Amino acid sequence: MATTAEYGIGEFTFPRGWFMVGESADATNKPIPLRYFGRDLIMYRGASGRVVVMDAYCPHMKTHLAKNESSYIVMDGKQVEGDDIRCPYHAWKFGPDGMCNEIPYSPAPIPKAAKIRSYPVQEWGGLILMWHDEEEGEPDFQPHPLPEWEDPKWVNWNVDYLGELNCHPQEIIDNITDKAHLGPIHGSTDMELFESEAKDHVIRQLLAAGHRTLSDEVMTNDTWYTGPGLLLSRMNGYYNSLMMICHTPIEDGQVRAWHGLMVEPPNFPMNEDDKAAVPAFQEGSKMALLQDFDVWANKAPCLSIMQVIGDGPFGKARLWYKQFYNPRKDVKKYQAKSNGHWVTKGTKRDPWVEAAE
Ligand code: FES
Ligand SMILES: [Fe+2]
Repeated sequence: MATTAEYGIGEFTFPRGWFMVGESADATNKPIPLRYFGRDLIMYRGASGRVVVMDAYCPHMKTHLAKNESSYIVMDGKQVEGDDIRCPYHAWKFGPDGMCNEIPYSPAPIPKAAKIRSYPVQEWGGLILMWHDEEEGEPDFQPHPLPEWEDPKWVNWNVDYLGELNCHPQEIIDNITDKAHLGPIHGSTDMELFESEAKDHVIRQLLAAGHRTLSDEVMTNDTWYTGPGLLLSRMNGYYNSLMMICHTPIEDGQVRAWHGLMVEPPNFPMNEDDKAAVPAFQEGSKMALLQDFDVWANKAPCLSIMQVIGDGPFGKARLWYKQFYNPRKDVKKYQAKSNGHWVTKGTKRDPWVEAAE
């Protein structure tokens, strides 16, 4: 395991962006503890349905807001009131914005410093996303829209929790431009196309290849990150599908990851074949990702890549990733350095290969 500083990614230890911190079902009126970005956090759902993620410790005397079972406030089920939360120790009450709005026993005005850092949150495809930002600014981009989630013709994903990896998220990001692992790890065959494109906060991979387990025909995958933590991959064919992979830093050099696959069967409602095929597809997609995991879980940190002709544009993806670890004022600079479109050598449509044949 190596740290952000050792990779030399930027000023901030953790990136700015939207990150998965749980599933919608995890957010209830019982606050739960979370640990991400080297911080103790809590999450709950207020009476209005609003999900709140905030730092875990009360500013009064640093009580953990979601690690108490024996306070009468908790035992009486009174900890969440409307969209507010009460501290189990002395019952100070905080709004979803983190501001203290009641100190039940004190006649004095509420101190201005009586506030907890609260984070922008949204629900996206049954996931809870929080906006992490060392500069505490408002989100400057949004996750990719997910109309499939509301579309009855699509079978929604069940989220697979993949576990924790003692590897820096940089190693996961490298995968988006990694052409040469697709054959050995995922069984890609007859690769016709491998292209990469970075455009501001989005980086994309376009792949056309056969697949050893899924198909003899050439399939086209369009895979992209929207910011540093949310990946979607669209595959069109007899079954259209949309895969998500989310990864979120826990500590510096450690991540947690999830996977899901939505499928659009050709028949609506599904016939018997579709009913068998959809879960098999979902399982196959998860297994493909676990092939990457197997490597990530055991590799040493790669602080610099020994790049050769035929490798994808790793350096550009690493430059792209830096925009999220540096102050906003420098984002345009990193985007200008990384924006572009690359065709990696060694695909069938590449003149370099045709000349060698
Ligand atoms: S420690 Fe939270 S109210 Fe006193
Ligand atoms: Fe991979």
